[in-house]
Amino acid sequence: MRAVVVMLAALLAGPAAAQDDSFGRADDQDPRFAAGKLRHRVYERDGVPDAYAGKRNLFPADEAILSAGRGLYIQHCGDCHGPDGMGDGDDASALSPSPAMIGELVQSPGAADEYLLWSISDGGRQFATRMPAFKGKLTENQIWAIVTYLRAGLPPAE
Ligand code: HEC
Repeated sequence: MRAVVVMLAALLAGPAAAQDDSFGRADDQDPRFAAGKLRHRVYERDGVPDAYAGKRNLFPADEAILSAGRGLYIQHCGDCHGPDGMGDGDDASALSPSPAMIGELVQSPGAADEYLLWSISDGGRQFATRMPAFKGKLTENQIWAIVTYLRAGLPPAE
C-alpha cells in the first residue's frame, strides 16, 4: 500500500515538475508574473536576438565595479525593482504587470548573461510591459556592471 501511495505521488508530481522551468519561479500561477513567464518561454524557444547571443559578463565583482553597478541600479532600476531587487520600489504599485523580483531571478540557472542583457536592453515592449529599454541609454558595460551588482546580491555601500 505504501509503495502505491509513493508511486502515485511521483506520478502526480510528474507533470508539475516537467512544467517547472529553470527560472525557478515559485509563484508560477500568479498573473502579475505572466509577462516574465512569457519572456522565459520565448527565450527557451527562440533564444535571444543575434546582437546579444552568447554575450558574457566578464567583470569581476570587485569594489569598483560593484560601486558603479550600485549607483547605476539606484539611478535607473531601483524606483521600480526596489532597493533589494524584490520588485517593490516606490513606483512599483502603479505598474501592472509588477516589476520582476530580479534580485531572485539573477540567482536562478535560467537567467544567463545573454538573457539579462536582452531583457535590459530591449525592455518589455514586445511583451506589453512597462520595463524600459535601456539600449541607447546605458552602454553594454554599464549593463554588465549592474548585472555584477545584482548577482553579488545587491551589497550595500561599504
Ligand atoms: C518603470 C519601471 C521599471 C524600471 C525603471 C526598470 N524595470 Fe525592469 N521590469 C519592470 C517590469 C514591470 C518588469 C516585468 C515585466 C517584464 O518582464 O517585462 C521588469 C522586468 C525586468 C527583467 C526581466 C525579469 C524576468 O523575469 O525575466 C529584468 C532583467 C529587469 N527588469 C531588469 C531591470 C534593470 C537592470 C533595470 C535598470 C537598468 C530595470 N529593470 C528598470 C519595470 C521596470
